[in-house]
Amino acid sequence: TIVPVILCGGSGTRLWPLSRKSYPKQFAQVTGEQTLFQSTAQRMTGGPAEFGFADPVIVTNSDFRFIVTSQLMDVGVDPAAVLIEPEGRNTAPAVLAAALHLQRQDPDAIMLVAPSDHMIPDTDAYHRAVATGLAAVEEEKLCLFGIAPDRPETGYGYLELSEAAGAGVQPLGGFVEKPDAQRAAEMLASGRYLWNAGIFLFAVRDIVAAFERHAPTIMPWVTRALDEAQSDLGFLRLAPEPWKEADDISIDYAVMEKVPDLRVVPFTAGWSDLGDWEAVWRASSPDPVGVVADHRATAIDCEDTLLRSESDQVEVVGIGLKDIVAVAMNDAVLVAHKSRTQDVKKAVTTLRESK
Ligand code: GDD
Ligand code: MG
Repeated sequence: TIVPVILCGGSGTRLWPLSRKSYPKQFAQVTGEQTLFQSTAQRMTGGPAEFGFADPVIVTNSDFRFIVTSQLMDVGVDPAAVLIEPEGRNTAPAVLAAALHLQRQDPDAIMLVAPSDHMIPDTDAYHRAVATGLAAVEEEKLCLFGIAPDRPETGYGYLELSEAAGAGVQPLGGFVEKPDAQRAAEMLASGRYLWNAGIFLFAVRDIVAAFERHAPTIMPWVTRALDEAQSDLGFLRLAPEPWKEADDISIDYAVMEKVPDLRVVPFTAGWSDLGDWEAVWRASSPDPVGVVADHRATAIDCEDTLLRSESDQVEVVGIGLKDIVAVAMNDAVLVAHKSRTQDVKKAVTTLRESK
């Protein structure tokens, strides 16, 4: 069996004002009936003939713990454990805590680490890709999933193929996390790179060994945070004192960029990380002129535009717009050029500082 490990401690500021500090995007209905977190959990139940999924381990922070349990209950998923981080230290400590926790129960466990905020419409294709990746895990490798890039995105990690992309497990020449614009354009043009989907498959033993080797300073603190963890109403609260000493760093920078012999499974079915409103617009299947207008919104003579209201009290109407994103909540309205939706993050920082 494979244990899903779902990371849902992030705050997703680029989807403001839908994504809020107290209610980030993974817990919101961004597209469709379920929240992104619920779809993520459901995607990792059952499984194909090759393997089955065990109950998931969730890693989140204290503020979200009841959102997590109630949203899981709504979709009939029973978590094996909910690990509570005393504070967000990014994904490296979060993944290591889950790995060490699992290792104490089953040293042979295999884990599939998934972000909680992605859209993957084809669950069968996802399961087939994971089944393919198991061959790499058998060879004691860390396995990633790669998406064919279609633009010079700077918000993703890039996976360098050592050979031309084929089907099945590929060896990786290297990993480049979040390149600058020029490097991203070069990698796109070369045709030898895939985007890192941010989903990882490995044996618990192998990821713990990779941390020992490439990020040794994190290990003692996360180990202690787990040793001294407190059980509380079914939540496992990691100990705050050691936890705050763990480096605040992503698994991509701490480990993946440093491991010399990674493996990748190309994933060709749809994937979107719904990282900003432009991505939501693209993933929401715009009409023939590129308009997405739902949730109490009306577009008149608009093109390539997303209009959305999340409020019962607010109607959004756009007339003659092109390349605009407008999102209304009860207490906040965003209006942005569609090419600038990455900068929503900056706006949120500015708003926080001005308060
Ligand atoms: N529990 C926990 N604690 N989860 C966290 C924390 C934390 O401190 N920080 C982030 N997460 C969760 C987020 O909620 C998200 O589900 C996932 O971990 C990934 O974090 P992001 O902050 O969204 O990472 P990213 O998008 O910048 O980059 C990663 O994903 C890209 C694809 O979407 C990298 O893996 C890139 O290489 C990759 O291309
Ligand atoms: Mg992300």
